Amino acid sequence: MNISIFGLGYVGSVSLGCIAKFGHNVIGVDINRKKVDLIKKGYSPIIEPGLNELISSGVKRKVITTTSDYRYAVKSSDITFVCIGTPGMKNGNLNLKSLYNSLRQIAEGLQYKKNYHPIVIRSTVIPGSYNKIVGTVEKYSCKKSGNDFSVIINPEFLREGSAVSDFLNPPLNVIGSGCRKSAEALKKFYRFNKAKTYIVSENTAEMIKLVNNSFHSLKIAFANELGNLFGKLGIDEKEIMNVFLKDKKLNISDAYLKPGFAFGGSCLPKDVKALNKFAKDNLLRLPLISNIIDSNELQKQIAFNRIAFFKKKNIGIWGLSFKSGTDDMRGSPILDVINMLLKNNFKVRLFDQNVVFKKIIGANKIYLKKKLPGAEELFEKDFNNLLKYSDVIVVNSAEKKFARKLMDCKKLIILDLINIPELYGHPNYNSLTG
Ligand SMILES: NC(=O)c1ccc[n+]([C@@H]2O[C@H](COP(=O)([O-])OP(=O)(O)OC[C@H]3O[C@@H](n4cnc5c(N)ncnc54)[C@H](O)[C@@H]3O)[C@@H](O)[C@H]2O)c1
Repeated sequence: MNISIFGLGYVGSVSLGCIAKFGHNVIGVDINRKKVDLIKKGYSPIIEPGLNELISSGVKRKVITTTSDYRYAVKSSDITFVCIGTPGMKNGNLNLKSLYNSLRQIAEGLQYKKNYHPIVIRSTVIPGSYNKIVGTVEKYSCKKSGNDFSVIINPEFLREGSAVSDFLNPPLNVIGSGCRKSAEALKKFYRFNKAKTYIVSENTAEMIKLVNNSFHSLKIAFANELGNLFGKLGIDEKEIMNVFLKDKKLNISDAYLKPGFAFGGSCLPKDVKALNKFAKDNLLRLPLISNIIDSNELQKQIAFNRIAFFKKKNIGIWGLSFKSGTDDMRGSPILDVINMLLKNNFKVRLFDQNVVFKKIIGANKIYLKKKLPGAEELFEKDFNNLLKYSDVIVVNSAEKKFARKLMDCKKLIILDLINIPELYGHPNYNSLTG
């Protein structure tokens, strides 16, 4: 295949060397003449293990060429990879100016083409860029997306320092494209790596890179804050992190990573607060960990805002415990939402198949009485009564029998806090995130 690569920085030059390894003809384009000339002579423009060898071998075999003539590059290639820098600006936005300049150039090159031409965006872009990219290419090429070219969002996951090996063995391939034909062709192209390919919407492909990098940064910041605390207390950092990382069920796993409602219960909030207090007493700031509780409070406020947005008066709450299938209401975040509703003059009724008000005992009872004085008056014994009474049902319980009943009440507005699949087809279904 003949491939043009726009931008010969870290991503572009690594892509150039690696792709040429598999026998494709690769044409590199950059506005920086020095980079173009260095590669022409068989040298890597960056220091990266293994890259010099790949580039010098590709140039010798004449499968790597470079040019500043962007029209020629597009004209003589079957596909274009865009690896232009998108640096951060002072205000936090990504600077996409160079990217759009290069897209205009690619569009000009497209005017000389008769064949369908996929443009693969490997640069990191702001979510929502896809339409603007397509618009730019259409405007400057006078060609039509879908008929003459396609734009595919295909984020790159390599890390500097191990870029060649990461390019050849990525964690996964993400292809964001509404064009099945282009997506399948790119999937086939990536067969040289063993990673699984996910064909997704353009939006998802744009967002995943920012999400990944935020999560990686979160992990580093979390570990560093803990490291600072361990260091101060003389706790063996290696030993504790070793144990932490061994828990593949709850720690290093997909547990607790489903967007939804606030966390609660008698353990999580109190222990996060305890760790913070402990650090404070030891004169240490934990900027990340100390904001976890604030983030969780915001999630309760968001739930209230969603309910208020329906502009209905009668709100039925199904499920009061902090976790479906239990009767433990200590620290249950829904109780805070109920209080916000009552304070704002909503009429609220409550039902939980696991909570019979008269039978609640011990700490659970004390907590409920303190948190929600007058709760007894709000309880419904029968789920059908809750359905009859309510304009909106807030779902905080997952028992299938009741979910099925809810499915029969097509006129009711549902706000599902815990994303239960049994309710997905309901005509008035809403979740916290969608
Ligand atoms: N560096 C990384 O580790 C890494 C990893 C994954 C993704 N990314 C993303 O990939 C993209 C590229 O990153 P990078 O680190 O390779 O950037 P870079 O700054 O090293 O290279 C970008 C290159 O684009 C060239 N360029 C600018 N305008 C051009 C034009 N009109 N035509 C041709 N070339 C032009 C520049 O001269 C430069 O050589 C960014 O969006 C980045 O966020 C980077």
